[in-house]
Amino acid sequence: MRTINIIAAKRDGRELAAEDISRIILGYTTGEVTDYQMSAFLMAVFIRGMSLAETSAMTKAMVESGAVLDLSRITGTKVDKHSTGGVGDKTTLVVVPILANCGLKVPKMSGRGLGFTGGTLDKLESIPDFNTALTPEEIIEQVNNIGAAIAGQTHDIVPADKKIYALRDVTATVESIPLIAASIMSKKIACSSDVILLDVKVGSGAFVGDLPRARELSETMIAIGTNLDRRVGAVITDMNQPLGNAVGNSLEVIEAIDTLQGGGPSDFRELCVELSAVMLYMAEQLMSLNECRLAAKTSLESGKALEKFRQIIAAQRGDPDIASNTSLLPQAKYCREVMSEESGIVSEINCSRVGQAASILGAGRARKEDSIDHAAGIIVRKKIGDRVEKSEQLAILHTNNKSSISEAEKMLKSAYILSNAAAVPPLIYEKIY
Ligand code: URA
Repeated sequence: MRTINIIAAKRDGRELAAEDISRIILGYTTGEVTDYQMSAFLMAVFIRGMSLAETSAMTKAMVESGAVLDLSRITGTKVDKHSTGGVGDKTTLVVVPILANCGLKVPKMSGRGLGFTGGTLDKLESIPDFNTALTPEEIIEQVNNIGAAIAGQTHDIVPADKKIYALRDVTATVESIPLIAASIMSKKIACSSDVILLDVKVGSGAFVGDLPRARELSETMIAIGTNLDRRVGAVITDMNQPLGNAVGNSLEVIEAIDTLQGGGPSDFRELCVELSAVMLYMAEQLMSLNECRLAAKTSLESGKALEKFRQIIAAQRGDPDIASNTSLLPQAKYCREVMSEESGIVSEINCSRVGQAASILGAGRARKEDSIDHAAGIIVRKKIGDRVEKSEQLAILHTNNKSSISEAEKMLKSAYILSNAAAVPPLIYEKIY
C-alpha cells in the first residue's frame, strides 16, 4: 500500500498487514515518509489502537531500522530491566549491582529523562567523570570482567524510535499502549538480553494512570517478547507518589548509595529487593522466589552490592570515592524548605507535578537539547499517609538557579492534598512472570 492508503486504513480502524507497517516505519527512518504523514499515522494509531499482531510487527520493523547488539561473547545469563518511567525512580542504580553481585550478567542500556520522568544516564552523569558512552566492545569486556555495565544506547540501535518518539512528544501521542509497547520492546529486543523484567509504573507520575491500562501494557509487552523468543516478565508498581524521598539526579545517586550502604527509604529498598528477586528467579529457575529475595537482601546487607557499584563506577572512569563520600557529588547552591499551609494527613500527591517542580529547578529538560543541573531536585519529606502540621516541612528544594525557586515551590505545593484520612497505595500491584 502507498503511505496515504496505510494512514487511511488505520484511520478507518482496519488491521494493517506486517509489510505495510514495516513500509511506513522503515520509510520514516530513511526520510521517504514525511513528519506530517507519520504524525497522521501516529494519531490514527493513538485513536484506533493496534492488534497484538500489528504491535509485534511494528516492534520488529523498529528493531530492523537499526543494528542489533551482539552479546554472544558475554558468557552467562544476560538480564535487563526497564522502567516505563517515573519520578524518583533510581532502582537501576541498586538493582544492577545486586544482580551482578549475585552472578548474573547485566549489560544495561539506559536512557535520559523523558518529560517529567528522570533518566538513569542523567543520574549517573552526576558522578564526576562517569562515562556512559561505551562502545559495544567496551560493554562486552566490562560485563565479562565485573558482571555489569550501564551505558547509553548507541545511536544505531532502533533509530526509528528516536525519530518517532521525538514526534510523539510534540503531537500528543505518547500515552498510547501499542506505541509505548513497541517503543520499549524494540529497544529491549535490539539489546539482546535473555531475560527482561519490565517495571510498569502506574499512577499520577507515570505514562499510564490506571491499573487496567498498566495490565494491558504489561501483557502486550510480554506477548511481544514471547513472540520474539525472549523471556519477559512485568511488575506493576505504584507511581502515585515519588519512589523514596529524592527526586533529581545527584540527590537520587546519594539516596541509592545510602540504600547500598544498608539505609535508604523503606519503599525504595523494598522495591529494589523485589525487582532483583524476580529477575534472579526468572534467570536462575533453581531457587524459589523467597530464596532469591534472601540472596538480594544479603547482597545489600553485606555491602557486596555497594562494592559492585564502586567497581562499575571505576570501570566507567567515574570517581569511585563517591560510594563512601557522597559530598563529592554536585551540591546545589540554594535550598528552600517548603512548608505546609495547613494541617492534616497527606491523602494525595500529584506525582507528575513533583516531577515538573524538579524540572523547573533544573533537574529535567524542557527540550531534548537542554542541559540539566545535576544538583537540582527535591527531597520529599512527607508522603501519602503522613501527618503534617501547619508550617511543618513538606519538602526541600535544591537548585543552582535561584530564580526558579518560587515557581517550583508553587508547583510542589499544588501537588499535595491534605485530608482527615488517607489510603496508602501499595508499592507493588501485580507481578506477571
Ligand atoms: N519509555 C519509552 O522508551 N518509550 C515510550 O514510549 C514511553 C516510555
